[in-house]
Amino acid sequence: MTTDPFGWARSLDTLFDQVWTRLSRGVHDRHAPARHPTLATVSTRGRPQARTVVLRAADKGNGTLLVYTDLQSHKVAELQVSPFAALHIWDSGAHLQIRLAASVSILTGTDVAELWRDMPDHGRMAYGSTPSPGTPLSDALGYNKIPDPEAFAVLHLTIESIDVVHLGPDHRRAEYCREGGWVGQWLAP
Ligand SMILES: Cc1cc2nc3c(=O)[nH]c(=O)nc-3n(C[C@H](O)[C@H](O)[C@H](O)COP(=O)(O)O)c2cc1C
Repeated sequence: MTTDPFGWARSLDTLFDQVWTRLSRGVHDRHAPARHPTLATVSTRGRPQARTVVLRAADKGNGTLLVYTDLQSHKVAELQVSPFAALHIWDSGAHLQIRLAASVSILTGTDVAELWRDMPDHGRMAYGSTPSPGTPLSDALGYNKIPDPEAFAVLHLTIESIDVVHLGPDHRRAEYCREGGWVGQWLAP
């Protein structure tokens, strides 16, 4: 008898659990696909914008995620105008596409002081840059990176819905909404 490696895709509950298992793996394993999701925002000109980020925390109980960034980056300015984001992950090993829609709050200063304190020096290098990220340069290396706690921002994503596609021997798609208590609904893929 052969066991189905994707048996978890057969029920809405186990598929949902698998999504959170993969997200959690992304936080703890730098080689996991969910380590580097694509974060999409709406630009200040109303256009889509997408970039790679590192997934820093995933809380299944609260349905929240954390991403760290530079307060001066364009994505923060975008989120200040339109506080919504989408996160995309393709986990090829699990044959799983995960799309999350979230509202985003931007945490800074004392709210993130503990996270800054716990961060190793090399990690802090990503927060604090002169001139600010996205400024045109005449020389590719014409910038300085000086760790600055004032430049450290945490994007707190409150997930509103999750759209999952599993491309196993059968194709399945499901949607889970916070409003619906994450019960889950099969969709035509
Ligand atoms: C592998 C990888 C991981 C990245 N992780 C982050 C991250 O966690 N936070 C972040 O703000 N930018 C991260 N970046 C840089 C962003 O992709 C992006 O270039 C930068 O944040 C500027 O984006 P923005 O102008 O849209 O704000 C990462 C880039 C790569 C290639």
